[in-house]
Amino acid sequence: MSARNALFIPGPSNMPDAIRQAMDIPLEDQRAPDFPQFTLGLFRDLKKVFKTEQGQVFVFPGSGTGGWEAALTNTLSPGDRVLAARFGQFSHLWVEMCRRLGLEVDAIEGEWGEGAPIEAYAERLAADKDHRIKAVLVCHNETATGVTSDVAALRRALDAAGHPALLYVDGVSSIASIDFRMDEWGVDLAVAGSQKGFMLPTGLAIVAVSPKAMAAAAEAKSFRCYFDFADMARTNKEGYFPYTPATTLLRGLRASLDLLEREGLEQVFQRHHRLAEGVRQAVAAWGLKLCARHPRWHSDTVSAIVLPAGFDSNVVVRHAYERYNLSLGVGLAKVAGRVFRIGHLGSLNEIMLLGALAGTEMALADQAIPIELGSGVAAAQAHYALPRQATHVFPRRAVGA
Ligand SMILES: Cc1ncc(COP(=O)(O)O)c(C=O)c1O
Repeated sequence: MSARNALFIPGPSNMPDAIRQAMDIPLEDQRAPDFPQFTLGLFRDLKKVFKTEQGQVFVFPGSGTGGWEAALTNTLSPGDRVLAARFGQFSHLWVEMCRRLGLEVDAIEGEWGEGAPIEAYAERLAADKDHRIKAVLVCHNETATGVTSDVAALRRALDAAGHPALLYVDGVSSIASIDFRMDEWGVDLAVAGSQKGFMLPTGLAIVAVSPKAMAAAAEAKSFRCYFDFADMARTNKEGYFPYTPATTLLRGLRASLDLLEREGLEQVFQRHHRLAEGVRQAVAAWGLKLCARHPRWHSDTVSAIVLPAGFDSNVVVRHAYERYNLSLGVGLAKVAGRVFRIGHLGSLNEIMLLGALAGTEMALADQAIPIELGSGVAAAQAHYALPRQATHVFPRRAVGA
């Protein structure tokens, strides 16, 4: 295959050169006296991305799944009751993890393609008069279906019920790409991973913890060792870690935070929205539908696109890879074979995405899916280009002027 693979899966995302170069360094001494000068700034700036002043952010070697486990095992005891909704593969896997860790899960079965069922959460919280539910879990951006949920509304439901449970948010495919407000939304545990909005290689599980969750950690009885918040908090205070940190990735994280800060978080969110909207226009122009059933759930980091009956999305994704060196996301679990996904998160601009849309169109057309070549690209271009000024005529310069 010639040239570089076009990576349009919903994470890992494209890595900017500034991050790659920041990691092209000799290995370093994680106990050096000047190491904290570097790490303390990282902890400070990570808090801005989570929009928390009160919370504490821990960076573990791991991936998003490790972050889930850290959040649960530090704050809950075996047998504790957890309220969670399943409406896609990632919310499903988090529920499965709870069960494997010996927690008792009250699982709300949501529809794949819909957002977190806030009303169902509210009903169960209101009914839980003796506050047996200790934890409420929600997946902010369900990467399997391309659905973003309303975390603030879930916080309102908790408050309306006067319920003291901790609020846990999976922000693996939202944080640093889609607006997320830890303090304002009263989130107690927020989980992110390095390979999506942070544009880094996989390898860091980033977990933000509220003071209330830290207090719960002091009482919680679940076994934990490697992911222990207390060990992290004790050593992080001085700028160090309880074991060898992934220093090279931390250098990349510094570059990532600098990039996010330079662009401005709000601009990063707006860029994701504009790019995502172009993809949605393309999908409409192809005559296809998103898995997300209502615009209020449209994800700005990933679009899951449903193929007409009789076509296999796995064949399209495989063909896109083999013929055009374009990586698209497959459909997962319940929607395997029916859905394919375009990841549009991280370091990305219009031109890159138009290339991906052009490749997707060819892969669809090659598999006899009835779309018109160029239609999606044109729709996205119309969205990305400056507004047309039909009456504007450029003045001609006089010859010799
Ligand atoms: C929403 C969400 N949660 C959790 C995970 C699991 O993260 P990881 O694969 O980094 O362990 C993913 C991975 O894609 C995800 O998209």
